[in-house]
Amino acid sequence: MDIVNGKQDSLLKVEGLKQYFGKGKSLVKAVDDVSFEIKKGQIYGLVGESGSGKTTVGRSIIRIYDPTGGSIRFKGTEITGKLDKEKKQLITSGIQMIFQDPMASLNPSKKVFDIIAQGVDIHHLASSDAERKDMVYEMMEEVGLNPSYADRYPRQFSGGQRQRIAIARTVILKPDLIIADEPISALDVSIQAQIINLLKQLQQKYGTTILFIAHDLSMVRYLSDVVGVMNHGHIVETGDTEEVFNNPKDQYTIDLLEAIPRMNPRRTEI
Ligand SMILES: Nc1ncnc2c1ncn2[C@@H]1O[C@H](COP(=O)(O)OP(=O)(O)OP(=O)(O)O)[C@@H](O)[C@H]1O
Ligand SMILES: [Mg+2]
Repeated sequence: MDIVNGKQDSLLKVEGLKQYFGKGKSLVKAVDDVSFEIKKGQIYGLVGESGSGKTTVGRSIIRIYDPTGGSIRFKGTEITGKLDKEKKQLITSGIQMIFQDPMASLNPSKKVFDIIAQGVDIHHLASSDAERKDMVYEMMEEVGLNPSYADRYPRQFSGGQRQRIAIARTVILKPDLIIADEPISALDVSIQAQIINLLKQLQQKYGTTILFIAHDLSMVRYLSDVVGVMNHGHIVETGDTEEVFNNPKDQYTIDLLEAIPRMNPRRTEI
């Protein structure tokens, strides 16, 4: 983490973010007045029930949506409103997203090598073909994929391996911010911890800042430095992860944490 005189630099500052869909009777206030900050090198866990607005927050930040209101400052620059060339460049080179379903996010007709190299080509990150190859093979090793699989297609991998491919093609770009939207939800429980550990390991190595969106509170507790709890489009509580888990202040957070044992299959044996 970049800690200067005890203070960390702010990487992302979201203030009063609103993201509405539809009009009139069909108006959905998916995100309504959401504010939070992520410091450089932090992992910020965004939790909350299905439909609370977590994905919408992530998509608004990376500008898949056009925010209805509020401010998003990334590396000190306002990235809401009209996107000029510079802002677009700032977002595309600085923010990457990892999705829940790696199969849907990987082009099935492309070989793994080309999938991982794609961003390298777009952003002109390699100065020669040899460097490009080295970058891809190194990154494959780094995420636990055998480089000899580079000529295979996504369908020839397991779900966990596919998520490793998705992580590799993201991390190779060395983005400042990764938005990981339920990156483990589609995976077997036994594989989930492996992927979480991989994210943690890569975060420590590259100092990447991560917005980690998840349902699983134990994974969020394990991975995140700071947590935000969403309910009905609002962040009802945010703070240091251990502080929020040990001493929740908001009633919704308390209810959410109390629901954990009930979701624990071992408890049903009582
Ligand atoms: N493009 C859209 N158009 C209309 N409504 C939308 C759109 N995207 C999301 N919504 C609505 O906004 C609300 C928040 O959705 P969102 O996907 O952000 O929730 P979530 O917290 O990510 O849920 P989950 O945990 O199930 O992924 C929901 O009511 C959803 O139906
Ligand atoms: Mg979602």
